[in-house]
Amino acid sequence: MSTTELAKGIYWVGAVDWDVRDFHGYSTYRGTTYNAFLIVDEKITLFDTVKRSHMDEMLRNIRAVVDPAKIDYLVINHVEMDHSGSLPELMDIVKPEKIFCSPMGQKAIIEHFHREDWPFEVVKTGSEISLGKRTIQFLETRMLHWPDSMFSYVKEDGILFSSDAFGQHYATSERFDDQVDMSEVMHESAKYYANILYLYAPLIRKLLAAVASMNLDIKMIAPDHGVIWRTHQSKILAAYDKWSRNESDGKVLVIYDSMWHSTETMAHAIGVGLREAGVSTSMINLKVHHRSDVMTQVLGAKAVILGSSTLNNGLLPRMAGFLMYMRGLKPTNKFGAAFGSYGWSGEAVGLMNTALEDMKIELIEEGLRLKYVPDDKKLEECIEMGRRIGKRVSESSMEKAA
Ligand code: FEO
Repeated sequence: MSTTELAKGIYWVGAVDWDVRDFHGYSTYRGTTYNAFLIVDEKITLFDTVKRSHMDEMLRNIRAVVDPAKIDYLVINHVEMDHSGSLPELMDIVKPEKIFCSPMGQKAIIEHFHREDWPFEVVKTGSEISLGKRTIQFLETRMLHWPDSMFSYVKEDGILFSSDAFGQHYATSERFDDQVDMSEVMHESAKYYANILYLYAPLIRKLLAAVASMNLDIKMIAPDHGVIWRTHQSKILAAYDKWSRNESDGKVLVIYDSMWHSTETMAHAIGVGLREAGVSTSMINLKVHHRSDVMTQVLGAKAVILGSSTLNNGLLPRMAGFLMYMRGLKPTNKFGAAFGSYGWSGEAVGLMNTALEDMKIELIEEGLRLKYVPDDKKLEECIEMGRRIGKRVSESSMEKAA
């Protein structure tokens, strides 16, 4: 049996997806888990389900504890299909007395599965239900990650079922944070935040404040993906605090794609200038870096310097795709600039400038364009651009420290 007991009578009954490598455009090199939790009390209660493809694994785990037909209540903290995909078939097996969900959750479940006849019981922030010996308190967490999302807190055991928040796409046979490599978990947590929650930073700040004001005695944070935080809760809470403040580590990213190496040559010359100015720099060639890994680096960066050749009066497709992806995630508190080579029309730099301005990233250079292949004079202009940007980033870090 692969079920794990979090506390007496509280079980992990989810599934591990070792193979998933793409989550609607986000690369999941380490797979993921779909966590579901079972509380055996006077009312036997299942919190969330799993992706449809992994329902049999969840049922096997539930059966190791109880007959699924004996489950009384379902709590749906989040309706996205990786957590509710098994719901229709599970409903036929379980026939629960009640389904607890948020007001938006009820709407979303009906809009997904078209079953208004299911026994919904809507709960809101502050609502409580008794399972017998245990009390569940609910907290709506709209837009973290969907309008329907909510947390469920087991008061007597201090366990917070946090839905998508604090999760990681991290497949492992272990269930707890202190059983795995913490550097891997923190990297996957940052990647998850940068690619899923980045745009909701203001809401995360409000949520962290709301949780703090409730004075919950949180002994475990159990997200719907990855490991359960039972030892390093303060570490992940501090990380969310830092990320949602949009704090930067002062690094500059040079993110580029190139047709015939001219833009690439410019990128590396700009990198020389940045390093001469003493700033930490990452060279990111979009030909070899996945957009979701780039976003993980954008999370902590102070400046994003974008490079693309002009193709058909536009951008190279990898840069166009990356900008579309980054725009939706709304990074803030950054400087930006653009560069690129061209043959005759040369629109790419203007298009990247517009994209940066649309994202409210502060443009600190007009942009540098050159025709065909850079000569030594043009390369010196690139190095000088890197020096100027590096100086500006260093001054900004010093202003912040003062
Ligand atoms: Fe893991 Fe928003 O679903």
